[in-house]
Amino acid sequence: MPRAHVAGWGKYIPQRVLTNDDLSRMVDTSDAWIVARTGIRERRIAGEEETTATMAVQAARQALEVARIGPEKVDLIIVATATPDYFFPSTACLVQKALGANRAAAFDLAAGCTGFVYALGVAAAMVESGAVQTVLVIGAETLSRITDWADRNTCVLFGDGAGAVVLRAGPDGGGILATVLGADGSGGDLLILPGGGSRHPASHRTVAERMHFIRMQGRDVFRFAVRVVPTVTRQALERSGLSLDDVALFIPHQANGRIIESVVRDVKLPPGKVYSNLERYGNTSAASIPIALCEAVEKERLKPGDVVVCVGFGAGLTWGATVLRWTYPQPAPVPVWRRFLRRLRYALAALRSWLRRLWWRVFFVGRG
Ligand code: ACO
Repeated sequence: MPRAHVAGWGKYIPQRVLTNDDLSRMVDTSDAWIVARTGIRERRIAGEEETTATMAVQAARQALEVARIGPEKVDLIIVATATPDYFFPSTACLVQKALGANRAAAFDLAAGCTGFVYALGVAAAMVESGAVQTVLVIGAETLSRITDWADRNTCVLFGDGAGAVVLRAGPDGGGILATVLGADGSGGDLLILPGGGSRHPASHRTVAERMHFIRMQGRDVFRFAVRVVPTVTRQALERSGLSLDDVALFIPHQANGRIIESVVRDVKLPPGKVYSNLERYGNTSAASIPIALCEAVEKERLKPGDVVVCVGFGAGLTWGATVLRWTYPQPAPVPVWRRFLRRLRYALAALRSWLRRLWWRVFFVGRG
């Protein structure tokens, strides 16, 4: 059976930094409280022109570059996000257009902060079935657009960013070895964006009642996370036939430093095997694991043969774990001419997309 190997990785982090001190000038909070209760020191906020799709495209381009493949080789694009550019078209379709990935099917996947782990599971199953060979899996979020900047309970937690991997079919023994996914909808109200959907369509009332912002019962989500993460980690390792001793790196969803510490104690993992960048980016939801994975490779915390466990949890409630054996080495630096060619290719993709739109217009006007 073919396995889904991570052949490329990339990330995009917006420029603008929002520190705890900045927040303490916006709401009644302090750097000391935020660091002690969450471990977060700063987070990144998307610029006015940036959206989930634009950040996803940047991360995806980097991942394709590392994998040394062109967008025309991609069979499927999955974007895990809770903050799509639109309800429809999907953010994945916007990414497909921007990349010029003309052969690719594309869809979004909504599983809160577990989105990326869910997307990896779906993509791996499709690769293993032989339905696809190459998949771009992206986690991207612009949480700053659904954060209530007047609510100190939530606004200190979240940040923006995107991470991506290219999965390619490869031999058994490496790549994604096991996935465990779970959900419990009875906890749906613990972490919710109440307004804007078919239950409460956007209206003056939903805006006046701030229903277009995240609402969270933090303590309950915290309890849920410290209970479910150790369990799903053990289940995924058992399914892969590996033990904790085999694990080289553990990448949990970056939500709260105290959640990570509690899980590490419970699972009995040496802290040196845990990757965390929470203090710099905060909780970037579905983007947190791919950003951390990409950073870990860049910092040479992962080498071929290493076993990585990624564990997510979040709105839904949902949870999931992926066990994978790293197979691809760090790529050699890309020559300048090749970078130039890639840039040209994306410019041509934009032109092609424009021409395609023109053709549709002419076609329909001609028929009308
Ligand atoms: N600054 C100062 N005080 C604050 C702040 C703040 N930013 N936020 C809350 N407080 C106060 C509260 O009002 C409360 O005051 P009170 O005792 O007078 O009522 C006190 O601090 C304690 O509040 P708790 O909610 O009990 O604080 P806790 O230690 O639980 O920490 C936190 C809150 C950080 C939100 C924590 O519960 C948490 O991280 N939960 C998990 C959240 C999470 O991971 N969410 C993401 C899930 S994934 C996804 O899909 C998005």
